[in-house]
Amino acid sequence: MSNFSAIILAAGQGKRMNSDISKVMHKISGKPLIDWVYTKLKEAGCKNHVIVIGHKKEQIEEYFKDSVNYAIQNEMLGTGHAVMMCKDYFKGENTTVMVLCGDAPLISKELIEKTIKSHKESNASATVVSAIVNDATGYGRIIKDENENLLKIVEHKDATDEEKKVNEINSGMYCFESKDLFDALSKIKNDNAQGEYYLTDTIGILKSEGKKVKAFVCDDFEKTLGVNDRIDLAKAQKIKNKEIVTKNLINGVTIIDPDNTYIDEDVVIGKDTIIYPNCVLRGNTIIGERCEVGPNSTIENTTIGNDVKIINSVANEAFVGDNSTVGPFAYLRPKANIGKKVKIGDFVEIKNSNIDEGTKVSHLTYIGDSDVGKNINFGCGTITVNYDGKNKFRTTIEDNAFIGCNTNLVAPVTVKKNAFIAAGSTITDDVDEDSLAIARCRQTIKKDWRKNK
Ligand code: UD1
Ligand code: CA
Repeated sequence: MSNFSAIILAAGQGKRMNSDISKVMHKISGKPLIDWVYTKLKEAGCKNHVIVIGHKKEQIEEYFKDSVNYAIQNEMLGTGHAVMMCKDYFKGENTTVMVLCGDAPLISKELIEKTIKSHKESNASATVVSAIVNDATGYGRIIKDENENLLKIVEHKDATDEEKKVNEINSGMYCFESKDLFDALSKIKNDNAQGEYYLTDTIGILKSEGKKVKAFVCDDFEKTLGVNDRIDLAKAQKIKNKEIVTKNLINGVTIIDPDNTYIDEDVVIGKDTIIYPNCVLRGNTIIGERCEVGPNSTIENTTIGNDVKIINSVANEAFVGDNSTVGPFAYLRPKANIGKKVKIGDFVEIKNSNIDEGTKVSHLTYIGDSDVGKNINFGCGTITVNYDGKNKFRTTIEDNAFIGCNTNLVAPVTVKKNAFIAAGSTITDDVDEDSLAIARCRQTIKKDWRKNK
């Protein structure tokens, strides 16, 4: 893929978001708006990202750290002024540079590639991505001569009534040759309706200097949608989610209700897995083949094997092995490492614990900081007492042990192989192999107590 640079505009205030968060840092499908632009550029082969920052710039710097270059725009004097701030990064030899807005997250790798290709093939100085729309209100208009040659871009507020009738608009995404871009930028003025230095004026300037400028008509205008307020944010979220859900459908995942399933871009789901409604699949989650997930499950940064069932449950930074079942109403917390053929039933919470093959934790149980072997049966209401208010301790339970209902295991403690714990026990000492531990008061009966009261 071709080598090019990009300038991403992100200095604006984003007043209409009504937010303390920088507009471009608001998220859709788990990723900040500007990261979508950054990532798609990178996928298309962009080697050098320069981000123009101003308002709430610390939030953007904190996010991208050293992975991009920054140009600081202290006063919002217009899009042309913003691009001018990047000049120092383009002092060397001429390069192709794309200019995009950090608040237009639906941009695709394909559209970037097509734009660069069209730009290079036509040997243009500048290529504007345009679109034909029904309602052009607010947009800059693409003004062409009778032979369809691009002449200039006129902003809505500066357009004559005749120009306002044009329904081909500037999407706000461009491709430039860097030398021509900065040369033209040195000539723009702010004598317009908004008193701003318009990036769009470079088109007319380059044209008047006999340079080649082109409009590349984008047939999927949705991809250039800019987010100005939370209504746009919700709209962009919906479009992005649909795109990701559709990709998974094509990959062989059954999604019962695409409108009510939310999947982040990096989630990987295997063939013939069924996702029931109201699931939220986040981050770097990986789900294997032939699984059933949902309804109503939230799974984040979790790896799930093949043939797993997860019903009405929450998992975060957990691992679930093949053929296991989780839920309904289970909670797998970080480092819950569930082996194969394990049953995690209702109202069970697991944290920082290894649960080995064939073990059953069927109901109302908390297992924290534990190493649990194979084929162990947990009775209802077992608790690992792992915390003394200051320190956490581990519990070890070896293969084939049987934990009776309503048992407290006060850590640090070990229950050895084949041991059996009587219901209602509070275990504070290690239990030997094959032995029975009973740790509770013997039942007393006071005969006729009620009658004699
Ligand atoms: C711009 C275009 C318009 C196009 C529209 C598409 C200009 C003059 N007009 O208009 O032709 O149809 O986008 O959405 O370019 N920004 C800065 N610094 C500034 C000003 C803006 O970083 O001083 C950033 C904003 O944060 C935003 C982007 O540039 O991300 C676009 O600015 P905005 O003011 O929204 O431009 P529009 O008026 O929408
Ligand atoms: Ca805008």
